Amino acid sequence: MFSWHRLMISNMYPKDVKMTYLCATSSRDGKRSLPSLLGYSYTTSLSFIFSLLYALCSFKSSALEAYKPAFSIRITQSRKPIMRSQRIAVAGGTGKIGRHIVEGLLEAKHRHSFEIIVLSRSQSPDISYAGFNAPVIPVDYQDQSSLQKVLNEFQIDTIISTLAGRPAELVYITSQENLLRAALSVPSFRRFAPSEFAIESEQISASVNLYQNKLPIIQSLRQVKQQRPDSFEFSLFECGVFMNYLGYGNTRPEGHKAHGHLAHFPYIFDLSKRSADIPGDGEKEIWYTRAEDVGKFVAEATQLETWEEYNNMAGEILTMNEVVRLCEDVCGTEFNVKYNSREELAARISPAPEKARANFFVESLIAIIDGECDIKRPMNLNKLVNVQPMGVRQYLEQWWGSH
Ligand SMILES: NC(=O)c1ccc[n+]([C@@H]2O[C@H](COP(=O)([O-])OP(=O)(O)OC[C@H]3O[C@@H](n4cnc5c(N)ncnc54)[C@H](OP(=O)(O)O)[C@@H]3O)[C@@H](O)[C@H]2O)c1
Repeated sequence: MFSWHRLMISNMYPKDVKMTYLCATSSRDGKRSLPSLLGYSYTTSLSFIFSLLYALCSFKSSALEAYKPAFSIRITQSRKPIMRSQRIAVAGGTGKIGRHIVEGLLEAKHRHSFEIIVLSRSQSPDISYAGFNAPVIPVDYQDQSSLQKVLNEFQIDTIISTLAGRPAELVYITSQENLLRAALSVPSFRRFAPSEFAIESEQISASVNLYQNKLPIIQSLRQVKQQRPDSFEFSLFECGVFMNYLGYGNTRPEGHKAHGHLAHFPYIFDLSKRSADIPGDGEKEIWYTRAEDVGKFVAEATQLETWEEYNNMAGEILTMNEVVRLCEDVCGTEFNVKYNSREELAARISPAPEKARANFFVESLIAIIDGECDIKRPMNLNKLVNVQPMGVRQYLEQWWGSH
């Protein structure tokens, strides 16, 4: 039976008063305490309940004293609601980067107080990590009312979407839009991170067709922000390329762990073959973050009071030639490096529908040559949170070094 042991209701209060309501127990086993009953019904009679609680608090009546062991009320003065995430839903958290983010959040529960649920199209066991659990709640992304029911039931304030899949229009556009629309009618909702976790879609979608599907939700989020400037935030989390792809082909006994939860394929560098397939002359930068560190960064970002429109993070940024040199140094051997012109890469693109995935990778290589992957913003999240990400040499030495 799922139980929020600490149910916090905040930010729903009239302009100048922010109320945090701490409740000792709230369960779905039918034995609801007074506080949980209030929590469950606040959507319909919010202002009335808070007014009542405020009055109770002011009077310090004997009735309030009687409930002291069950709950306490804290009132602080503030103009803006607290934006720090307290009840987080990770859509697609059973997936690849999604699972890393859920694990990052569960680990961060040792330092911060918040609750996590994972949204999934199917029933699955809880995700357990670092001694904490996140329940997996089945949803239908095509049914806004069912999404709304779940978000409301868990009083979600923050949605992190890590959805991906095909058809891409359905996942990135329809499912994410439905999620946002459903959330907008949930009183506790105030933060949304769409499925980005790469390089700014707006920057590379000219070359990378798939990423055009990521654009409509960004436009929708900007519109919501305009309508709700003080009570809504969104952020595009960008991390470059997952560093874990440098672990492809590792044959050590624990070598599969080099990939984390990610799919196994080489991207530009294939250390198992001591080779590199480089777009252009190799002098363009490549932006790497390890998936485990993305999870840590995102988890810490949920505890920031304010979200900037972009939250960029990096493990390390190097030119591709610098990565070749590091690979050769760590592996102790020269690499077979092929430099590809734009024309050579364009010739690899196939019109066959079954080549969509292969085309996606080639398009991303062309985007590098065209400067669409050039880094245009500072890595602000590295400065905003206390996460020490792994660098490329450290990663290579861990998985390919001679130790
Ligand atoms: N930076 C990089 O190097 C890099 C590499 C890969 C991906 N990415 C980005 O990271 C994000 C997540 O990618 P990923 O590879 O981690 O995702 P993924 O594991 O392939 O998918 C995430 C989840 O999406 C849900 N899903 C799948 N098909 C769906 C559908 N038709 N409708 C609704 N939900 C569906 C699934 O969850 P349920 O089955 O539980 O519902 C799945 O576990 C994407 O934005 C992607 O572009 C970045």
